[in-house]
Amino acid sequence: KKKIIIDTDPGQDDAVAILLALASPEELEVLGVVAVAGNVGLANNSKNALKVVELSGRTDVPVYAGCSRPLRRTLVTAEHVHGDTGLNGPDLPEPAIALQKQHGVDFIIETLLAHEPGTVTLCTLGPLTNIAMALNKAPEIAPRIAEIVMMGGAYFEVGNITPAAEFNIYVDPEAADVVMRCGTPITIMPLDVTHQMQSTRPRIDAIRALGNRSGVAVAEMLTFSESFDLKKYGWAGAPLHDPCVTAYLLEPGLFEGRLCNVAIECASELTVGMTVADYWHVTDRPRNATFMRNGNAEGFYKLLTERLARLP
Ligand code: BDR
Ligand code: CA
Repeated sequence: KKKIIIDTDPGQDDAVAILLALASPEELEVLGVVAVAGNVGLANNSKNALKVVELSGRTDVPVYAGCSRPLRRTLVTAEHVHGDTGLNGPDLPEPAIALQKQHGVDFIIETLLAHEPGTVTLCTLGPLTNIAMALNKAPEIAPRIAEIVMMGGAYFEVGNITPAAEFNIYVDPEAADVVMRCGTPITIMPLDVTHQMQSTRPRIDAIRALGNRSGVAVAEMLTFSESFDLKKYGWAGAPLHDPCVTAYLLEPGLFEGRLCNVAIECASELTVGMTVADYWHVTDRPRNATFMRNGNAEGFYKLLTERLARLP
């Protein structure tokens, strides 16, 4: 069983990723969920994390608030994509559970120090601020992290917030740079993969037809995501980003990519936040990340739908 920490800015697609993890207790032990500023501000993202944990019925899983702004830059948010609350779509009750008192960054550090090295995986679904803060504050955690599996970046599919950059990396490129250089094994789910996971009508309908409260809420989330993304891309379904991270942990064979060097552009105004993947090994820079390029969408939605059926 893998022990994981989910670092997130929920976000409809973050919520689906968290639910997929919480629906899979045989494979994944979720040690905690840590919110970060990103899609919307920290207060709403933290509240949304509580709502999602409560929706899953797994109120034993602690939720923490992390950093409220990027390391050096002014926070950029995406209410135009996720709605003013960050989780528009389903009508979820105000959370009855509360945030933990401890800061999310300290929780990450303490957890990594308390567990055997190589046993805790970090799943990142938002800007990398919390992880970079933890690495800066306690560099001794780096060799203890089993793996970082992140949704972020793009190469062949280039950008979604600027022509060159994907949102999670763009919001805090300096944090992404710290993470990419930390020496831990990294697996990246970029737009190249997440754009293949389109939530078409039949896929959303199959999730709604589960009839449980989680399935219906996920259908509402995916329907809300369509309202912006279908216009933007003109596809049959909206891309589904963050659940690729938890799906990878459950069924790695759904994805394929290549170990290569991935570097973050932090300087150029035009391309800041770009993930420069040396996919063809044209440099001798260290191969620091497995950069995924293809995903099996049918298998991914089958897994997601089956697992959501297990929740209340
Ligand atoms: C990423 O940005 C956010 O809007 C989504 O939740 C996802 O993590 C996609 O670029
Ligand atoms: Ca996210």
